[in-house]
Amino acid sequence: MDVCKSIDDIRGAVKQLKAQGKRIGFVPTMGALHKGHLSLIRQAKERADEVVVSIFVNPEQFGPNEDFDSYPRELEEDLKKCESEGVSVVFAPNRDDVYDKKKYIRIEVDELNRHMCGGSRPGFFEGILLVVNKLFNIIDPDVAVFGQKDIQQFQIVSRMVHEFNHDVELIMAPIERANDGLALSSRNKYLSVEERETAPGLFRALNYIEKQIVSGVDTPSLLLKHQKSELEAKGFKIDYLDVFDKKTLQPIETLIKGKEFILAGAVWLGNTRLIDNLLIEL
Ligand code: PAJ
Repeated sequence: MDVCKSIDDIRGAVKQLKAQGKRIGFVPTMGALHKGHLSLIRQAKERADEVVVSIFVNPEQFGPNEDFDSYPRELEEDLKKCESEGVSVVFAPNRDDVYDKKKYIRIEVDELNRHMCGGSRPGFFEGILLVVNKLFNIIDPDVAVFGQKDIQQFQIVSRMVHEFNHDVELIMAPIERANDGLALSSRNKYLSVEERETAPGLFRALNYIEKQIVSGVDTPSLLLKHQKSELEAKGFKIDYLDVFDKKTLQPIETLIKGKEFILAGAVWLGNTRLIDNLLIEL
């Protein structure tokens, strides 16, 4: 397995693979790899000959009061995991390899980032698009795999690929969960033992709401309000819990048959922010 730090090195490594006619699968990550990330690598392997993984804690997608400094960094263990999954190349650059000191050009997102995580994390998706755009330009993959866990990210990246004409196929991989339903996340490491026991409550609430919707509740606002209070009683602080249109990412008051919705929540347990979602097709 090749480990590349500089853009020249990763470009060279990918060029060599492409010269052999290999199809390149790409999995962008911020490291602290868990089974969710590994499932993405497996999906990429199924659809490509060689898999490239990037490991880069992207400063541009963290707000000034967010956890950039404390975000887990475990490069040695991550490399071992990549190696045992059969990854061909890891791109693990430093900040200065990726960003100039002064940037003159930015990407803006309209409407699609108004709600969900975009609503509560200003600049988050602009920072993600900035780095994903760079990574696509550097690696030029045939296929890239992202997780449903960050479904707003998937939808916004898909839109960028469309509007900027990136020649890459995007795959959305399902959410990997712990046995008790908690969506796996690098941030789960922040949870205390007690918080970890409480944490699957978010998934349970989503499941309960989904059942009610599937069995006919088409105006879910009261149902959502009730579930928010239940979660608050368990110690969660609610960022959002709502049903959104899958395409426009706007909140939906009345659910109509024949459409796809995202039932999504973001909550705080102490200092840890957890997100989760279910796709609902009526
Ligand atoms: P990161 O949070 O490391 O996630 C990397 C990829 O793993 C994302 O596509 C995410 O949706 C997916 N993922 C995380 N937890 C998952 C789970 N439990 N099941 C399935 N997939 C899961 O997302 C980012 O990094 C960054 O924003 C990035 C795209 C790398 C840009 O910096």
